[in-house]
Amino acid sequence: MKAVQFDAFGPAHEAACCADVPDPGAPADDEVVVEVIAFPINPADLLTIEGKYAARPPLPYTPGAEAVGQISQTGAGVDGLASGDHVMLLSRENWAQKRKVKAAEVLKIQTQPDRLLQYAMLKVNPATAALMLREYVELESGDWLIQDAANSAVGHCVIRLARKAGIRTVNVVRRESLVAPLKASGADVVLVDLDGLSGQVSEATGGGPRLAIDAVAGDTSLRLAECLAEGGVLVNYGMLSGEPCKMMPDWLVFRRLSLTGFWLARTLGQMPRAGIESLYAELAGHVQDGTLAVGIEATYDIAEIKSALAHAGQQGREGKILVLPNGQV
Ligand SMILES: NC(=O)c1ccc[n+]([C@@H]2O[C@H](COP(=O)([O-])OP(=O)(O)OC[C@H]3O[C@@H](n4cnc5c(N)ncnc54)[C@H](OP(=O)(O)O)[C@@H]3O)[C@@H](O)[C@H]2O)c1
Repeated sequence: MKAVQFDAFGPAHEAACCADVPDPGAPADDEVVVEVIAFPINPADLLTIEGKYAARPPLPYTPGAEAVGQISQTGAGVDGLASGDHVMLLSRENWAQKRKVKAAEVLKIQTQPDRLLQYAMLKVNPATAALMLREYVELESGDWLIQDAANSAVGHCVIRLARKAGIRTVNVVRRESLVAPLKASGADVVLVDLDGLSGQVSEATGGGPRLAIDAVAGDTSLRLAECLAEGGVLVNYGMLSGEPCKMMPDWLVFRRLSLTGFWLARTLGQMPRAGIESLYAELAGHVQDGTLAVGIEATYDIAEIKSALAHAGQQGREGKILVLPNGQV
């Protein structure tokens, strides 16, 4: 079978390739074999291949934080899962045609075929958006938040989940052409320029938001923090600019701002199985009712992984790059 692998860290489209690897074989009693239908390429996958993510894995390594697939075999001791079931994969190393994993590492899903690809992208970004919306500041209907990289998959999910809860959003992007589409998705305010940002935000929100969600860091984190109301929290969850997070000490001291970080892997790692099931059941409900719908810019075959990775690394995409390792869905 085919899998994506890399045996040295470097630019993703140079370091990773499509390799022939042994079939995973029959499942043990507590395992299932999953035919992978689709996986997205996320910024964290690119960082993993570049050797810049949380920890460097042993090489050679197959990346892939999430995927959706269909069970083809179940171990003798597996309950509640059967051949033909669609599942989300909760563990990593998913960029392959087949995965053999513990039954506890999958979540069964029920969906119409036209929404299946959304489940390939449900584990990471929608969950990140949902948890950041509720873990740091108690926001109520009518409250404001501000975020940057607002046209990212996480950004879109923040906009849609906030709108559903009546929370209003100020969204910072780096292209004028995104203003209209983001407003059509439910964004209340979309701003392009960092110059004069706090004045515009103060005017729009009447006092400033209490939550800022930052994936960019650098000067952008500083400008977002400037917009916050007294006691506000800036949550960083990404390193898109490659710069350190910036914050003024007098804002921490006199305006009582705080700066903290969110990492989904840690939060999920501390959650009991029932909490994880309940989180994804809630998010699946949002997929089913159309609240959550992440854009897809292009799909690729696994043999074209280098082109797919190069595409995923480009600026100005209109959605995610997905790989369909067993052919078109
Ligand atoms: N901490 C966590 O647990 C966690 C979980 C999920 C995601 N993340 C992080 O969240 C971020 C977004 O992920 P995603 O999958 O939603 O992204 P995505 O859909 O792949 O989109 C990437 C986004 O990043 C923007 N961008 C790239 N470089 C930028 C820069 N230097 N300055 C400003 N914007 C920049 C792009 O803007 P353009 O369209 O203008 O190019 C685009 O909006 C990433 O940093 C990712 O690592 C973190």
